[in-house]
Amino acid sequence: MKRLILLAAVAVFWPAASFEAKPKPLAEPERDSLRMRMEDEINPAFTELSHLMFHSKTATPEQVYRAAQQLEQKAKALAKGASGETEKQAQFAVYASQFHISARALLNTAGEGGEKAELEHWFNHVRATCEGCHSQYKDEAR
Ligand code: HEC
Repeated sequence: MKRLILLAAVAVFWPAASFEAKPKPLAEPERDSLRMRMEDEINPAFTELSHLMFHSKTATPEQVYRAAQQLEQKAKALAKGASGETEKQAQFAVYASQFHISARALLNTAGEGGEKAELEHWFNHVRATCEGCHSQYKDEAR
């Protein structure tokens, strides 16, 4: 009987517990996990793309495309996790969404074999969203 009660308790609390384990809405971000995500995923993907686009003499369009794909996936995940309950959260979600839109445009341009100038145009848009979001949220994060 005790076991049954325990099971029932687990069944009742399980969904809540697993929900809580998910990253919180990113506007009031779990600062540590957001920073880790920036440092371990988003920044390396951005740096890799930047390296291939601006500094490598041997990068192929295929490599640029794959790097753009990596960045787009990370931007998509960031945008998807951001929800806007408070005004601040909504603003964060807007930055995240602009980041995703720009990364997707860059990816599509790379997929269509776009001109260097066009790729750079979208790259600059991506960078602007990094900087825009940081200018507003990084200091507060400290
Ligand atoms: C929607 C908002 C948002 C976007 C877009 C965003 N970041 Fe961040 N980023 C943050 C926040 C907030 C922090 C601070 C987290 C903390 O330290 O608590 C951060 C931290 C960082 C850090 C950690 C190191 C440091 O200087 O504090 C790096 C690196 C970084 N971001 C790179 C990038 C790059 C590169 C991009 C774009 C390709 C990007 N971020 C886009 C919100 C954003």
